[in-house]
Amino acid sequence: MILILLGPPGAGKGTQAKRLEKTRSLVQLSTGDMLRAEAAAGSKLGLEAKRIMDEGKLVPDALIIGMIGERLDRPDAARGVILDGFPRTVAQAEALEAMLAGKGRKVDCVIELKVDETALIDRIAGRFSCTQCGAGYHDTFHPPRKAGVCDQCGGTRFDRRKDDNPETMKTRLKAYREQTAPILPFYEGRGLVRQVDGMAEVAEVASQIDAALERC
Ligand code: AP5
Repeated sequence: MILILLGPPGAGKGTQAKRLEKTRSLVQLSTGDMLRAEAAAGSKLGLEAKRIMDEGKLVPDALIIGMIGERLDRPDAARGVILDGFPRTVAQAEALEAMLAGKGRKVDCVIELKVDETALIDRIAGRFSCTQCGAGYHDTFHPPRKAGVCDQCGGTRFDRRKDDNPETMKTRLKAYREQTAPILPFYEGRGLVRQVDGMAEVAEVASQIDAALERC
């Protein structure tokens, strides 16, 4: 299966992709995570991407398309993927379609997480993750069971993303509205879009996604 999770920053794409990875044996491909890994490794591509990400703008299509193309060619992607944060422009959606057609594959389902933009600032402002294992948390909605200790690995160091601040968030939301939302008609025309209420609690969003997948 090739599943796209679509929604603005903070809609819950990463949260739901991680769960689907476990329940459906799919591989989460997050272009944001890939770019952050490149930046942490200090590659030329990563450092250029970091500058753009810190401003909340979108990284050039050619760079992203090349990166995802290589990733889709790896053997684990053959069992099915959840695309989290990709495609983000009509050009990326068209490139994905062509790339998959060349492999005899196609997008099976696009889940749109519908959210209220005003709530997203709180979600983003409260987000942090474990520096050791990457497990994600939220100050209010998902704190660690023991304060200051990661539930998953026992790590005690946490990090917040540099682009998770109200000012950059405005640019990220603008990019979503102007450059990413226009891909919805592209997939609606192919009958692939299923809407889910991203404002519900995490478990409820998960069950709505499961129900939507039955209709894909
Ligand atoms: P990326 O890393 O993809 O970030 P994003 O799309 O802005 O999405 P987020 O990771 O911020 O949010 P999410 O929807 O995954 O929410 P999460 O589950 O974490 O992209 C970053 C940057 O990289 C871009 O700005 C761009 O520069 C670049 N980039 C990446 N891909 C690109 C591409 N294809 N083309 C060009 N540039 C690209 O949830 C957020 C918080 O809310 C968490 O704390 C979580 O615990 C909480 N939460 C989740 N669900 C719920 C719920 N139902 N109720 C309450 N709280 C919830």
